[in-house]
Amino acid sequence: MNQLKLSITLVLVLFALISCSKKDASGAADSAAPATASAAPAGTCNLVSTKDGSPLVIKVTDKDTPEAKQFLATCVNPYTKLYAKDAEAAKAGHKQFNFQGCSGCHGGNANGLMGPSIIDAQWEYPKHNTDKGMFETVAGGTNGKGATARGSMLTWHEQLPGHTGDGLDTDTILKITAWLRTQYVGGGATPWLDEKPQ
Ligand code: HEC
Repeated sequence: MNQLKLSITLVLVLFALISCSKKDASGAADSAAPATASAAPAGTCNLVSTKDGSPLVIKVTDKDTPEAKQFLATCVNPYTKLYAKDAEAAKAGHKQFNFQGCSGCHGGNANGLMGPSIIDAQWEYPKHNTDKGMFETVAGGTNGKGATARGSMLTWHEQLPGHTGDGLDTDTILKITAWLRTQYVGGGATPWLDEKPQ
């Protein structure tokens, strides 16, 4: 009898914990967020610099969202699939794209100004058709060796030396790049919608 009570209590505690961590996940995404987002994922995504292929060291921090932690463990951006089917949620990424000044070089619709279009099939570096590759370029910047030679991208991640202004955290970069995917008009394959954990 006592053992039964104990098991019931344990199950209740577990439920309470699960609903708490769900609340922590970014509000709008609650029900649509992938189930794995609230679990602490094992593994590490080995990010590399677009400049020279050296390791891009970005650590998980206490303030990271479950989505940021999931990306840093698996190299898969959980917002990419979410935004593809939820235009309302994707607005968070669009807002940051404008707010952080990306639109100043890439245009309000990301179809190019002084910087290249990010929504066509012409990638400056082939790896930009993956979540990991696009994150690496936004987080760490480039040295201007892209296909259309439009200049270099700045470094944005707050943990990397030489970042722009206050810098951006992992979650903000993931939201912006996931929104960029929703704007894609280049046709052909869209491999970022089928990414598997690495
Ligand atoms: C000062 C101008 C400038 C700003 C501001 C800027 N970029 Fe860029 N961005 C560039 C240039 C120039 C390139 C091309 C880099 C290269 O070819 O090496 C680029 C390349 C990119 C690419 C790769 C595009 C492709 O077609 O392969 C992405 C993605 C990107 N930027 C995202 C962003 C995001 C997100 C922000 C805001 C956080 C931002 N950029 C802000 C100038 C800028």
